[in-house]
Amino acid sequence: MSTLMVVGAGQMGAGIAETAASHGFEVYLTDAVPEGLARGMSGIESRLSRNVEKGRMAADAKDSILARIHEAAKPTDVEHVDLMVEAIVEDEAAKRSLFQAVDQHFGPTTIFASNTSSISITRLARVTSRPDRFIGMHFMNPVPVMTLVEVIRGELTSQETVDTVMEYAQKMGKTPVEANDFPGFVANRILMPMINEAIFALGEGVADKEAIDTVMKLGMNHPMGPLTLADFIGLDTCLAILEVLYEGFGDPKYRPAPLLRKMVDAGLYGRKTGRGFYQYG
Ligand code: CAA
Repeated sequence: MSTLMVVGAGQMGAGIAETAASHGFEVYLTDAVPEGLARGMSGIESRLSRNVEKGRMAADAKDSILARIHEAAKPTDVEHVDLMVEAIVEDEAAKRSLFQAVDQHFGPTTIFASNTSSISITRLARVTSRPDRFIGMHFMNPVPVMTLVEVIRGELTSQETVDTVMEYAQKMGKTPVEANDFPGFVANRILMPMINEAIFALGEGVADKEAIDTVMKLGMNHPMGPLTLADFIGLDTCLAILEVLYEGFGDPKYRPAPLLRKMVDAGLYGRKTGRGFYQYG
């Protein structure tokens, strides 16, 4: 049985923990804030209960998945894991200090993965003693539903680590796709300029938000329009990713839309704060 630690019990971290436990992994879930951990666990519980109510899962399957998820107050409370997936805030300094803090604690066989959506895997790996066993594992939101995992190879990631992590992702029921370490990797290099352009279009008055989303939903068959999707991802996260692209490539085509910046300054982060382009109940 493989053991996994997920650090950060937000929407991504809790989703990763749920998915891994649903596929037989023994999972430790931790968060710097106790209420964050409690919120993450209750989200998992209610999603699994919904699956039982809808007849998609047996009640005892739910119980055994929950029994495989162990809460840990901090990462160093757990002695050993095969894989540690970091899913904390999209902030390079915060991620570096986490990896630095756990590097000496975990033995040399533990693989470190970051769920970063755009930050350099090579740079994060450098603060640890194991750049060969350091990798990007970028899950998509909502993790239990979306089948893709982008697996990002840092400059010093070993082939053995890539192979092991590709296998772990498959065991979690995902389809892993390999990418090299460039700003935004593949997913966000393509997705974020589209979202940013939608925000420019809104800011310039090309059309209203509903019209922009409808064009992309009905015209391009996207499941969500780009402004709805931005609210879903979090406008703070969208801005952070665009900043990484803008700085990383030094190319003005990635310049974040002024309206996006203004909304983030105002604390309108989308679904998670109850208001972004749309209002949430
Ligand atoms: N968590 C877990 N499961 C969820 C969920 C969530 N937040 N939202 C929806 N689901 C599941 C549920 O099982 C739901 O079925 P039930 O309602 O019967 O339980 C099922 O998905 C379908 O949901 P809905 O009928 O409510 O809505 P939908 O058909 O529109 O599907 C969606 C919802 C899957 C989120 C769909 O709208 C979609 O695919 N949206 C685009 C998502 C996307 O692009 N994600 C990638 C974002 S980018 C990213 O994550 C990376 C990054 O770095 C920024």
